[in-house]
Amino acid sequence: MIDLSVYRDIFNANRATNKWVIPTRTFLFKSIADVVGNDCVVELGTFHGDTAAILAGIFDRVYTVTKNDVDTPVWGVETVIAREKLKDKKNVEIVIADSIELGSSWHGHVNVVFCDSNHGYEHVLGELETWNKVGVDVFVVDDMIDISGWHGDPWRAVIDYCAANDKKYVMSVCGPGIGIIDNR
Ligand SMILES: C[S@@+](CC[C@H](N)C(=O)[O-])C[C@H]1O[C@@H](n2cnc3c(N)ncnc32)[C@H](O)[C@@H]1O
Repeated sequence: MIDLSVYRDIFNANRATNKWVIPTRTFLFKSIADVVGNDCVVELGTFHGDTAAILAGIFDRVYTVTKNDVDTPVWGVETVIAREKLKDKKNVEIVIADSIELGSSWHGHVNVVFCDSNHGYEHVLGELETWNKVGVDVFVVDDMIDISGWHGDPWRAVIDYCAANDKKYVMSVCGPGIGIIDNR
């Protein structure tokens, strides 16, 4: 059994600043786009729009998906902040929808889907299975190493998805452990 507490401490000491998350994410998504193309990315889970802002500089079209509209009680404030942060990024669209339901009605090829909404095992697996039918080159899955202690099990979903669909994944040490599935 690996003891992740050291990594958790490092993560918690740095997450407030985001200083190391943003550069590593930038490098990660840019590297993937250089290989598979940068026409379109779908980010599942918007929060405050930090990663969407990064993606705007890499991809031609960015769709960032949240289930919370601005008037949703409590959580809607996330989207208020994201709208403000992204208002000048003309290639970014905030889509208010459930991340799995949106995949089942989506038309058109997507270079990269970034799974970063509900991190529970069933939900991540549902996102992968649903968006796979759309035609996705690469899935990027956040929080493979559950170092924050309260997320679900994205890594199990990735392993099961890859086994069932004959796909390969690699782990990036970027941020809280990011899984990259070559889905081509
Ligand atoms: C971890 S945060 C996203 C962080 C963001 N991707 C970033 O890097 O800045 C998760 C977000 O997913 C949203 N969310 C949770 N469940 C969802 C679902 N079923 N469909 C769409 N969004 C969801 C939450 O409201 C929250 O804004």
